[in-house]
Amino acid sequence: EASDEELTARILAAKETLGDSLVVLGHHYQRDEVVRFADYIGDSFQLANAALTREQAKYIVFCGVHFMAETADVLSTDEQKVILPNLAAGCSMADMADESSVEECWEQLMDLYADESDADGLASVIPVTYMNCSAALKAFVGKHGGIVCTSSNAATVLEWAFERGRRVLFFPDQHLGRNTAKAMGVPLEQMPMWNPRKPLGGNEATTLLDAKVILWHGFCSVHKRFTVSQIERARKEHPGVRILAHPECPMPVVDAADEAGSTDYIQKAVANAPAGSVFGIATEINMVNRLAAQHPEHTIFCLDPVICPCSTMYRIHPGYLAWVLEALVDGVVLNQITVPAGIAADAKVALERMLAARP
Ligand code: 13P
Ligand code: SF4
Repeated sequence: EASDEELTARILAAKETLGDSLVVLGHHYQRDEVVRFADYIGDSFQLANAALTREQAKYIVFCGVHFMAETADVLSTDEQKVILPNLAAGCSMADMADESSVEECWEQLMDLYADESDADGLASVIPVTYMNCSAALKAFVGKHGGIVCTSSNAATVLEWAFERGRRVLFFPDQHLGRNTAKAMGVPLEQMPMWNPRKPLGGNEATTLLDAKVILWHGFCSVHKRFTVSQIERARKEHPGVRILAHPECPMPVVDAADEAGSTDYIQKAVANAPAGSVFGIATEINMVNRLAAQHPEHTIFCLDPVICPCSTMYRIHPGYLAWVLEALVDGVVLNQITVPAGIAADAKVALERMLAARP
């Protein structure tokens, strides 16, 4: 097996040869040994934009997970090729919403709302998907008048949706949906969770008629680990600690935190704080450890003492990066992510609505 130094030398040599024909994008959750080769590091919204603006690059090597690479393919030009160094880098949350279950839910909701008056000019329901889903679901949303959001623009996107519909069907992440809608003043009783096993009669139907946001049952297994008691312990042990949580954390955790925001929000909050600040952070461990190393002027720790890596983000190893880059030097494109044209066209509609909905 190649040593770290060897891999570093090989990756740098391949990058040098490929020059401007290559851009390497890295999500904040990537491990240090990978993220140091990224030309651009960001949260999922910023990386989608980076894919859009790097037109000169023939190859976009995406150090992140599958749905991010699909998004880059949808937003990039036809000539550009998007490469995911390890095809096994998926996202368990994205897998929690599949097209047929969402379509079935949609049909049932359409039946339920069929008799509603449309005198107010609003649709009965607008589908909103978190970026963390397959391109097929983004296409579904695009086809049905809906929109994509990320953790950095979820409130803006929900506002967009409420201007057009009486309700929102939000998937796959129940926590981002609930946390965002709650902060916008939507009462919890108007945020039922879609339950495919319950027949749509009686109480269930009444709840769905009164709903403002219908939540899907998805969640992130990394962020689900954070608890309120971790926050209480941190506050006891570090008086004055600032607790930052990613909005994929459960609602009680976000409520107990001082602030919630995307991976980039967390980066900036730390970077802009006065020296000597203390941060307890509820998000992925690779990012928290890197922040701690980059900011020795602060005290920074992850709220989960047991460690919580995103195991799929971690699947992008420098060995895979070296492998795909050296193949490109030889003119061979490995691990290309291609979204079929029909799906890409509809997914692009939903993504472009998000890009245009910026406040
Ligand atoms: P961000 O958009 O905050 O980068 O989040 C992406 C993600 O997958 C968090 O788990
Ligand atoms: Fe998916 Fe969670 Fe990993 Fe983000 S941290 S990529 S939501 S599994």
